[in-house]
Amino acid sequence: MTQWGARRALEALAGTGLELDADLKKQACHLLHRLERHHPASYAHSLRVARLTMAMWRAAPDRLGCGATALLGSALHDAGKLQVPASCLASPAPLSAEERRLVQAHATAGASLLATLGFRSPILDVAAHHHERWEGGGYPTGRPTAEFAPIVRAVAVADAFTAMTEPGRSYRKPLPREAARDELLACRGSQFDPEAVDLLLQALAQKAAPKRGRMARLLGRVQLAPPRRFLAPIGF
Ligand SMILES: [Fe+2]
Ligand SMILES: [Fe+2]
Repeated sequence: MTQWGARRALEALAGTGLELDADLKKQACHLLHRLERHHPASYAHSLRVARLTMAMWRAAPDRLGCGATALLGSALHDAGKLQVPASCLASPAPLSAEERRLVQAHATAGASLLATLGFRSPILDVAAHHHERWEGGGYPTGRPTAEFAPIVRAVAVADAFTAMTEPGRSYRKPLPREAARDELLACRGSQFDPEAVDLLLQALAQKAAPKRGRMARLLGRVQLAPPRRFLAPIGF
């Protein structure tokens, strides 16, 4: 297994006209490759979240800021899972309180890890705060997300939608997209930034055309965890 897959995936997500800093791109490829080896389902999840975030960014680039930041922030939002034991990430059983604490620590751990590698805010904020809630009460700080950059709130919504609809979760089957969309709408203005939810719905409408192209083919080749190995519950 090499970094080739991660590099190709990042380049496909960037498309043409989106320049990534060479050193940060190299670091991102390395981290994604490590995540692929550590817990393949988290790697696949990260690429899915990045693909959806970039669809949101392309739908409204002025609202989400720098495209390279959107790409690197979304692709690396769960980098902290590198520091969570794979046994916790893949546990088919309900997590103990201590395991839950370990998994939830991925947010802060990810931001710290990315900072040591030269990444800056808001990429660090995406990693640290993508499990915070619009009205507050999420983790790790419980702060309302209005104080963070829009890309943080956008990744939070893309992350939740992806977690609800992707395969590889122990506690339930993937939700149909329509049900996941209804769930986002139900949490619009409480857990999620209303504008971010609207942006995701806009992006999904634009993505409704049949999937073709390089990124779809790449994601089709991503190895998911075996069927009996699952990710931790949504919200992680
Ligand atoms: Fe996360
Ligand atoms: Fe995630």
